[in-house]
Amino acid sequence: MACLLLATLFISFNGLVPLVHSYGHANTCRSFCGNLTLDYPFAVRPGCGHPGFRELLFCINDVLMLHISSGSYRVLDIDYAYEALVLHDPHMSTCDSIVLGHRGNGFVVESWRAPYLNPTPDNVFMLLGCSAQSPLYQGFPGKHLPCRNVSGLGCEEYYGCSAWDAIGPRRTGILYGSGPPDCCAMPYETVKAVNLSRLDCQGYSSAYSRAPLRVSGPDEWAYGIQVKYSVQGNEGFCRACEATGGSCGYDIDGNSDLCMCGSWNSTSNCDSAHSAASYTRIWSSEVPLAGMI
Ligand SMILES: *[C@@H]1O[C@H](CO)[C@@H](O)[C@H](O)[C@H]1NC(C)=O
Ligand SMILES: *[C@@H]1O[C@H](CO)[C@@H](O)[C@H](O)[C@H]1NC(C)=O
Ligand SMILES: *[C@@H]1O[C@H](CO)[C@@H](O)[C@H](O)[C@H]1NC(C)=O
Ligand SMILES: *[C@@H]1O[C@H](CO)[C@@H](O)[C@H](O)[C@H]1NC(C)=O
Repeated sequence: MACLLLATLFISFNGLVPLVHSYGHANTCRSFCGNLTLDYPFAVRPGCGHPGFRELLFCINDVLMLHISSGSYRVLDIDYAYEALVLHDPHMSTCDSIVLGHRGNGFVVESWRAPYLNPTPDNVFMLLGCSAQSPLYQGFPGKHLPCRNVSGLGCEEYYGCSAWDAIGPRRTGILYGSGPPDCCAMPYETVKAVNLSRLDCQGYSSAYSRAPLRVSGPDEWAYGIQVKYSVQGNEGFCRACEATGGSCGYDIDGNSDLCMCGSWNSTSNCDSAHSAASYTRIWSSEVPLAGMI
C-alpha cells in the first residue's frame, strides 16, 4: 500500500516537471545579434556558453564582432551544423581590392583558445608581398617554396583578379629563383599563426571553398576566414542540460560546467540535481522508478 502511494506521488511529481520547464528557465543564454542567433557554445553574456569562447563575441549595433589577439573581425555567418564561423576583416584583400601596407589582421588566436578555434583545412590563406627574409621562405631545401593550392584555390587563379592589373604581379613557380612571388598560398596548418608582421608580409587574402560547389573563377570565390570551432567533447553535458530546459554555461570563477535553470544553477542538469537536492532523503529508494516513467 505504502509502495503504491509512493509510486503515485512520484508520477505526480514527474508530471509537474514539464510545467516548470515551460516557463522557468528556457533560453537564459540564447541571444540574437542582427540576424545571427547566438547559441551554445557561443554567448555574449558572461557565464553563458562554453568557457573556450568567453570574451570572444561582442554585439555592437547589431553587428557581431569576434575579438582575438590579432584583431577584430565581423562574423558573417555561424553554421551550427558544420560547426564553423565565417569572419570578415575589412583590410583583407579580395578579388576587387588588394590591400597592402600591413593593414590586415591576419589570424592569430590566443594559445589557450587554439584548441577551440582554428581555420578549416579547406581555407586558403594567400600571403601577399612577403619579403625574401620572411620565415616563410627559410629552411626549405632546394629553394622549394611552401606555397601551394588549397582545395583548388591558389595564387595562380587569384592573379586573374582585375585588382592585380595595376600591380602586374611577379609570379614564381614552385621554385624560388628570382625573388619571392607576390602571392603565396597555404593552409593555416603550415604556419599555425598568420601574423603579418612576424611573416614580414604586406597583406593577405583568405578564401574558402563552399564544397561541393565548383566555382569558375576567383571573382566567384567566397572571401573570408572560415573557422572551425570545437567544444572538445563537451557536447554531452550541454545536451543533457538543454533537454531538461536549462541553458549551458560555466562558473566564471572556476570555469566548471554549469547548467542554468532559471532561479538556480546545477552542475549536471535541471532535473537530477534539483530533485536530488530537495528530495533525495525521501525518495532515494524510488530512483530506479524515475528512469522507468
Ligand atoms: C544576414 O543579413 C545580411 C545583410 O545584413 C545578409 O547578407 C545575410 O545573408 C543574412 N544572413 C542570414 C543567415 O540570413
Ligand atoms: C548561475 O551562474 C551564472 C554564471 O556563472 C551566474 O551569472 C548566476 O548569477 C548564477 N545564478 C545563481 C542563482 O547562482
Ligand atoms: C606578431 O608578431 C610580432 C613580431 O614577432 C609580435 O610582436 C606580435 O605580438 C605578434 N602578434 C600577435 C597577435 O601574436
Ligand atoms: C595551382 O593550380 C593551378 C591550376 O588551377 C596550377 O596552374 C598551379 O601550378 C597550382 N599551383 C601550385 C603551387 O601547385
